[in-house]
Amino acid sequence: MARTAIEDRYYELHPKSAELYERAKLNFPKGVTHEARNMAPFPVHMTHGLGSRKWDVDGNEYVEYNTGHGSMILGQANPSIVKAVQDRMALGTHLSASSDLEIRWADLVKQLIPCAEKVRFTSSGTEAVMMAMRMARAYNGRSKIIKFFDHFHGWSDYANAGNLTGMGGIPGEVLDTMIVLQPGDIGAVEAAIEANDVAAVIIESTGAHMGGTPIHPDFLQEIRDVTTKHDVVFILDEVVTGFRSSRGGTQELWGVTPDLCTLAKILGGGLPGGAVAGKADILNTIERGQMLHQGTFNGNPLSAVAGIAALEMVANGDVNEKADAAGQKLKEGINEVFGRVEIPGHAYGIGSMIHTRIGIDAEIDEWGIIQGAPSGTPISKDADHEFKMAMFNNGVDNGRRFLMMAVHSDEDIAKTLEAFEASLKQVREQGMI
Ligand SMILES: Cc1ncc(COP(=O)(O)O)c(C=O)c1O
Repeated sequence: MARTAIEDRYYELHPKSAELYERAKLNFPKGVTHEARNMAPFPVHMTHGLGSRKWDVDGNEYVEYNTGHGSMILGQANPSIVKAVQDRMALGTHLSASSDLEIRWADLVKQLIPCAEKVRFTSSGTEAVMMAMRMARAYNGRSKIIKFFDHFHGWSDYANAGNLTGMGGIPGEVLDTMIVLQPGDIGAVEAAIEANDVAAVIIESTGAHMGGTPIHPDFLQEIRDVTTKHDVVFILDEVVTGFRSSRGGTQELWGVTPDLCTLAKILGGGLPGGAVAGKADILNTIERGQMLHQGTFNGNPLSAVAGIAALEMVANGDVNEKADAAGQKLKEGINEVFGRVEIPGHAYGIGSMIHTRIGIDAEIDEWGIIQGAPSGTPISKDADHEFKMAMFNNGVDNGRRFLMMAVHSDEDIAKTLEAFEASLKQVREQGMI
């Protein structure tokens, strides 16, 4: 297929990224180390970031909305975090021992997260989810976990249940312990609990893919009620939303307290870190010897100091308010752009997690859930890809989902809106919208 004008420009602006991709393919399957970084014809390779901006190997500057896959609500190279990590580096980064740092880090988690009576650190969100599921099973001796279709909980065998592709290597026996339901139907959840040996229900707190397919808050409360009624563990996955949808995550925002929650991303202040937090009696499955938990880098000093610095800023500053306000401005701005260029579409999302639907106009409620029949059709996969490349060409990463940081300024938003408008027009000029 001949290259489009947008693709031509993408090649023109990113020659060094193209070169690096050739080398990366020799080292990594698909040339990347995270599925989400994969992009045709090649991904842009970044060199450094500061605040709300980042730069690629070709010297192009971007307004950053991927925000370290959601971990960087304070912006790139936040001075307090840089200093905390630099100071700690010189004192030894792993003393193969317990430390006061992990205690302080956990104190902050307990201070901020409503369900957190006790905490246990892991190195990632995937591990936190694995641990929460194991804990629930160890706690009540049951085997099945209910999850929801398309909800992402990391890449463990169990968390992949319900996926349509990439299921090689996962034993059927593992998948048989998972029950995958459509979100929103509490009757189906209760029926599944009544018919099976259910240990836990797990859900992405604002809906699949960081709220891209939003759920209504009532559904969380319904899960809370039904799991309480049947004595099933309720695990709220707050890997993205913890310290983001509010200081205390979605559980604080919507006033629904789970038995366990999983945390990562912002928790580690930009360094690797995850945790399970929740009811002491359930975390004490470890204390009672019902399950074991090891892990070389759990609670490691470098992640701990970065995490402490980040959580202190979240606890004591206006990080959430700033990120949410920037999200609101961007959402309103994008909705104006759609109107101005007369292309159907809308922006929606909760707080600092903004999503877009291009090609369809719809009535949405305050959570972004479509009411009634939408008009128009979503743009094609090809058009969507062209739009993403165009946004890179116009200096914004990422074009369709915006994870806001406290450091996004009015100038960033103005630049983003210009890029959004230009990109929509460029895709339309190619006859693809
Ligand atoms: C809701 C949710 N749970 C779990 C994970 C897995 O976390 P990690 O990538 O740290 O393993 C992610 C990652 O994006 C996530 O979005």
